[in-house]
Amino acid sequence: MKYQTDYDFILAQLKAVTESETDTIANLANAAAVLQMNLNEINWVGFYLVKDGRLVLGPFQGRPACTRIDFGKGVCGTAAADGVTQLVPNVHEFPGHIACDGASNSEIVIPMFHGGKLTAVLDIDSPVFHRFTEADRDGLERCAAAVSRACLDFPS
Ligand code: SME
Repeated sequence: MKYQTDYDFILAQLKAVTESETDTIANLANAAAVLQMNLNEINWVGFYLVKDGRLVLGPFQGRPACTRIDFGKGVCGTAAADGVTQLVPNVHEFPGHIACDGASNSEIVIPMFHGGKLTAVLDIDSPVFHRFTEADRDGLERCAAAVSRACLDFPS
């Protein structure tokens, strides 16, 4: 395997930084930092929050990014519309991919739910083609679920 990411270790860190805090923005900000610290070969990691039926940029680490994405548009909007993780080995082959950082070549976007409702997506970009594996999908879905559970005041 290309990267041996220890998702149990990352989960422990995510729980440590969010367990005594319920504020969504505070928790998402620290979660982005924890993921940035632990994942190799990524150039952007952050969250888009569902607001008024669109995705709006939330806490992130990386270069400035587009602020609003419609459901069904790009990788993030597709994950939000379908409610399913999008694992994209080559973003240049993804119809409608939104290029925020020209360095990005692969991407994974995980939808996040609270009380059964879509609240946000976790978006991670990499300059490396085929960066994200099925093990990453599984680990990052567990991370996204843990972060979502900690964000008790997620806007609905
Ligand atoms: N590439 C994303 C847009 C967000 S940036 O990657 C931060 C997309 O296609 O939805």
